[in-house]
Amino acid sequence: MSTYSVHLIAAARPNFMKVAPLYHALSEAAEFQVALVHTGQHYDQNMSDAFFDDLRLPKPQFHLGVGSGTHAEQTGRTMIEYERVCVAEKPDCVIVVGDVNATAAVAMVCTKLGVPVVHLEAGLRSRDRSMPEEINRLVTDAVADLLWTPSPDGDENLLAEGVPPEKINRVGNIMLDSFELMRERIEAAETRQLLQLESGQYGIVTLHRPANVDPPEVLGVLVAQLVDTSVRLPLVFPVHPRTRARLDETGAGNALAAADGIQLIDPLGYVEFMNLVAGASVAITDSGGLQEETTYLGIPCITLRPNTERPITVSEGTNRLSTPDQLASHLADALSGNWPSGKRPELWDGKAARRCVDSLRKFLRG
Ligand code: UD1
Repeated sequence: MSTYSVHLIAAARPNFMKVAPLYHALSEAAEFQVALVHTGQHYDQNMSDAFFDDLRLPKPQFHLGVGSGTHAEQTGRTMIEYERVCVAEKPDCVIVVGDVNATAAVAMVCTKLGVPVVHLEAGLRSRDRSMPEEINRLVTDAVADLLWTPSPDGDENLLAEGVPPEKINRVGNIMLDSFELMRERIEAAETRQLLQLESGQYGIVTLHRPANVDPPEVLGVLVAQLVDTSVRLPLVFPVHPRTRARLDETGAGNALAAADGIQLIDPLGYVEFMNLVAGASVAITDSGGLQEETTYLGIPCITLRPNTERPITVSEGTNRLSTPDQLASHLADALSGNWPSGKRPELWDGKAARRCVDSLRKFLRG
């Protein structure tokens, strides 16, 4: 039996829960030798190592130490560092996930070296090119050799862009494999008790998109809305480092800190965070992953964005897009039960990693 060496690329927090189930599934299959490559885009203990521990990922075989910087710095450093590794190691194929800078950077390196590249979470489109992730998605999908999509809209987007159908394989949503792998530990975690939150009686907030947190006037409006909201519903808000920096620079964080109903906490590891999500009555977010996790769990999600690359969470799930000004009325609807209960999209079943392994096997055998 031939064996294939596979590099699996992880860079930033939302990548780790997509990489973990695939790493475990590939490691169990005799014909794959899988090496984990961490680009180092996220490096804080609670943005990276906590996820590796929670998701039982080993120390990466390669760590590129890219760190923070402008988009060009991050993308360029990732390309330079990964090219060295790729040339020396000659993997049979490379898997990139999601839509962060490393996803596009590594895909470009591989395609120019003639190394087959597979994109997990392909085909998602917000059609908003002011979003850095949209550029990363377009670039990655334009060069990938095998495109694993989470939902039918992904397939349709790729076909409309001229990707040959034989390159597209719908595998479902792998994030939910992580949830199912960790379900027992998530349910047993005591994050809610530690924060004195009653199940079903609080909202969870996450905000980190540059469009929401970088312009001080937008951040100011969002903070005012959250302070108002917290009078009706206790909120817990794990604060992303980008957001923490903007709250400190602008002084907007003072109003949040002073609000009795808001608990501002540091970012959490995967298990602790999902314990909070699973017990929340509503999520208020601009994250991509949380839109999917709340649809899976049947929890109302208010997404503070004008668009989403995950429209199935709106058409089939529990997600609604919102301007900051609409937050109060959406919240009233969510709390009064005037909200669709939603359903789990097809193939969001915790078994996506297996389908990826089957697909990769066929692809590499040619
Ligand atoms: C990145 C991704 C975004 C993803 C998000 C999840 C891109 C273009 N963006 O955005 O798609 O949703 O990760 O978090 O790839 N920082 C730390 N510690 C860390 C990492 C970052 O303090 O471990 C700080 C640094 O000041 C850094 C800033 O956060 O400059 C932003 O980090 P960066 O990785 O550039 O972008 P994110 O906003 O995290």
